[in-house]
Amino acid sequence: EKGGYDHFMLKEIHEQPKAYRDTMGSRINADGSKIVLDEIRMTEDQIRSIRNIHVVACGTAYHAGLVGKSVIERLARVPVEADVASEYRYRSPIITKDTLVVVVSQSGETADTLAALREAKRQGARVLAITNVVGSSVAREADDVIITWAGPEIAVASTKAYTSQLIAFYLFGLYLAEVLGTIEAADLRKTIAALQELPEQVENILQQSAKMESFAKQIAAHNSLFFIGRGLDFAIAQEGSLKLKEISYIHSEAYAAGELKHGTLALIEEGVPVIALAAQEELLEKTLSNIKEVKARGAYVIGIGLEGNEELSEFVDAAIYLPRTLSLLTPALSVIPLQLLAYYASLAKGNDVDKPRNLAKSVTVE
Ligand code: M6R
Repeated sequence: EKGGYDHFMLKEIHEQPKAYRDTMGSRINADGSKIVLDEIRMTEDQIRSIRNIHVVACGTAYHAGLVGKSVIERLARVPVEADVASEYRYRSPIITKDTLVVVVSQSGETADTLAALREAKRQGARVLAITNVVGSSVAREADDVIITWAGPEIAVASTKAYTSQLIAFYLFGLYLAEVLGTIEAADLRKTIAALQELPEQVENILQQSAKMESFAKQIAAHNSLFFIGRGLDFAIAQEGSLKLKEISYIHSEAYAAGELKHGTLALIEEGVPVIALAAQEELLEKTLSNIKEVKARGAYVIGIGLEGNEELSEFVDAAIYLPRTLSLLTPALSVIPLQLLAYYASLAKGNDVDKPRNLAKSVTVE
């Protein structure tokens, strides 16, 4: 059942190229010029009347929402807020009939997410669900549904469901941009072509697993570490930190790299591991200067950058390089090494990788 892998999590990590292909599937037309989301029943007029979007989800699905926020704002120029579902409902969000609420849930049964969906509907918003389970509560109650075709995810730590959610956001963001006329045909083609390259690029990263395994063994001896990054890299830092905590039980924090000097830098001392995400090329200079700040305090830095930016190696103790893609799409690649890092750290500590303590796959209580 684990298809020759030691754990479901590792199997699911390796299933990501297929999950990307299946989620894109027939949603891209034959000549790669158009996004086809036939399942969306929202009319073009309804799309044009959207004034703001709220993305609501829990845990890893929320982290996909953080990427989704940037994707939609950059592509479609509609203001987006992302909230964790357990906070959203109690903060009196401003919801109107021109608000689109996007709920994201692998299982489609998460109690907080479902309650947020119901509250949004009660207040007259239209709800779009991004979920991995056809016929789930969230899928049944939403007005529109985009299914992520990741296939069943068994490991408690979400991997392929998360990355399929990213693909769903890229597709939906591009679709909105097409309808709203915020993207040029040439840019649309370019982005679609880059999307279609992602599965092979993920395969390439998976071939570097041994490197992540050796980093994981190094960090497994530590009690605490940091993930830093800017922009989309910060969203991935948050996901990497959650994944690591969840299955390795090592404490970690994700920090927006520019925020370090406003407090957290005080925690950096000799030997503290820092995983620095530096895959946002336009922010590279800034991130490098943050890496220098932690290095100067003795941190052991593992950098994650893009091929072609190998100067990163001069600033860090160890580095891994990702194939080049559009800046907006880097999250679909940069999260892969972090999933492997968490997996191998959990393994090194002798933990139950697929069933971490205190956690359940689907959280059906509030
Ligand atoms: O089924 P959902 O996507 O609604 O689940 C949400 C979270 O409980 C889930 O993503 C959780 O954070 C994962 N265990 C993280 O790996």
